[in-house]
Amino acid sequence: MNTHSQEVSRGERYGFGKNWKRFLRTMDEERVHEAERSLREMLQMETMAGKSLLDAGSGSGLFSLAAMRLGADRVHSFDYDPHSVACTKELKRRFFPQTDKWTIEEGNVLDVTYLSRLGSLTSFTRGASCIIRATCG
Ligand SMILES: C[S@@+](CC[C@H](N)C(=O)[O-])C[C@H]1O[C@@H](n2cnc3c(N)ncnc32)[C@H](O)[C@@H]1O
Repeated sequence: MNTHSQEVSRGERYGFGKNWKRFLRTMDEERVHEAERSLREMLQMETMAGKSLLDAGSGSGLFSLAAMRLGADRVHSFDYDPHSVACTKELKRRFFPQTDKWTIEEGNVLDVTYLSRLGSLTSFTRGASCIIRATCG
């Protein structure tokens, strides 16, 4: 059992990602459009061309997908919950299977070593301006 599962079973953490299979069954174009609209409104921009998104606590990955659809140059999604990571990877497989602009992995926003490694991702430190979306519960 990994650290995340142990914390969930001790009741110290809510297992957000456990519903990911259900989410994937109900995922449709309307939900993606709604996420795109919400992101455009939040960022006050019509397109994400020239921008990068660091999606901390990406959950299902819906907003990372929306950023890709809005033309982001680069998206990096991470989540502490392996189920959420699997869900995000499934969305990428469905919508952007070929791209290397969208990377996804397990990561903890409270882990300073992990965060400092992210800081060295060249796409996030050079060129495109970076938007960080952190919605960790
Ligand atoms: C409320 S959900 C938000 C999901 C998604 N960002 C959205 O807006 O739909 C919070 C997410 O943060 C993740 N999370 C919680 N603590 C975290 C941490 N320390 N590091 C990374 N992700 C974390 C959870 O696993 C969950 O997927």
